[in-house]
Amino acid sequence: MSVTALRGQIVYLHANPFEHPPEDCLTHHPDGLVIMEDGLITAAGPWAETAPLLPAGTKPVHYPEHLIMPGLIDTHVHYPQLQMIGAYGEQLLEWLNTYTFVTEQQFADRAHADHVAKTFLRELLRAGTTTAMVYCTVHPQSVEAFFAESHRLNTRMIAGKVLMDRNAPGGLLDTAQRGYDESAALIARWHGRGRQMYGVTPRFAPTSTEAQLDAAGALLRENPGVYMQTHLCENPGEVAWVRELFPDRHSYLDVYDHAGLVGPRSVFGHAIHMHEGDFCTCHERGAALAFCPTSNLFLGSGLFRLSDATDPRRPVRVGLGTDVGAGTSLSQLQTLNEAYKVAALSGTRLDAVRAFYLATLGGARALYLDDRLGQVKPGHEADLIVVDPRATPLMTFRTGYCESLTDLLFTLMIMGDDRAIRATWIAGRPVHDRDAP
Ligand code: GUN
Ligand code: ZN
Repeated sequence: MSVTALRGQIVYLHANPFEHPPEDCLTHHPDGLVIMEDGLITAAGPWAETAPLLPAGTKPVHYPEHLIMPGLIDTHVHYPQLQMIGAYGEQLLEWLNTYTFVTEQQFADRAHADHVAKTFLRELLRAGTTTAMVYCTVHPQSVEAFFAESHRLNTRMIAGKVLMDRNAPGGLLDTAQRGYDESAALIARWHGRGRQMYGVTPRFAPTSTEAQLDAAGALLRENPGVYMQTHLCENPGEVAWVRELFPDRHSYLDVYDHAGLVGPRSVFGHAIHMHEGDFCTCHERGAALAFCPTSNLFLGSGLFRLSDATDPRRPVRVGLGTDVGAGTSLSQLQTLNEAYKVAALSGTRLDAVRAFYLATLGGARALYLDDRLGQVKPGHEADLIVVDPRATPLMTFRTGYCESLTDLLFTLMIMGDDRAIRATWIAGRPVHDRDAP
């Protein structure tokens, strides 16, 4: 494969700003060069040092006014819900019954799943998201459709078939055994094929019997390296329902723990109504939480306690999630905008360095992919975005008054959206060019 290269301002987080002074965690090369070959970054650094490594004939694509950053990571999103973003008026349980379960039934049709999967992945790349942890529907063909398109694009994605064997319409139910068998077949077919990875996906405790949660635990034990994703402590009505359905468990998290679902590579969406003991358990097990601010605000679910979750005495891995279709944007920049406001309402602050950590290296750590994603450094996979701080006339005006890089990053996360993603590169190849005719 031929060598490609990008020149511009390189910016990324190389350490965790929730545990170290934020100013020590940022790498910035004002005039930088990234060289890529065979899907990997082979060199990255100041132009003066790296330009001599360029093979003869390789001309870097030059973005002098732009930031070159690691691709953004979305740790919680539902691709089948793309067609129902912004469904009016309900909180979680009514929203599921009124909109979500109706929409998801359409994914029995492979052609529909193909159409939505293609649209979803194209929109992710336009938003600068290069890796995501994705819910499909209960239909195995919805997973086939998603992985087939992701494999074609060569994006690194984690996805799985939703498991539901109760409390949903008949067309969306499997059984403990059928969910197990279908998941096992999908794991065999897709986990580790190219850049695709499988996530066992019990939707949430109310739609799975104990037998199904146990089957999900068996899938994890039998397939080391696969992921697990589900929802946790999102809404007070949901938490009360789980207490009724599982009276023998001492907490919502304990329902999952009892089935062997809490460990490294387990990602719990929302985790708003959590007790101290729940955070301790997640810390001890190496499980991660997905902070989904646009969704939590849209459904009126509550405020995620980011500073409690990341408390350095027992830090829990936290990534950022859009949670489309309860979330209102696929843009991680827009998601950070709302994350800042959630922190403000909780009496804390989310600075730009910590914010971009959540969307890059923090997400990679939540997914145990930080050995290959989340930074712009040699040996890492070459998934990069080119960010335009002057994407709109107002952003041009506003950034003219920025006095530091952190000022600029903060303006980007408050004002930016898909328009600020000038280009997206996957495994060293351009896959999105905002300004292409
Ligand atoms: N809890 C169970 N299913 C869902 C879902 O699809 N979206 C959200 N936000 N919460 C859920
Ligand atoms: Zn969700």
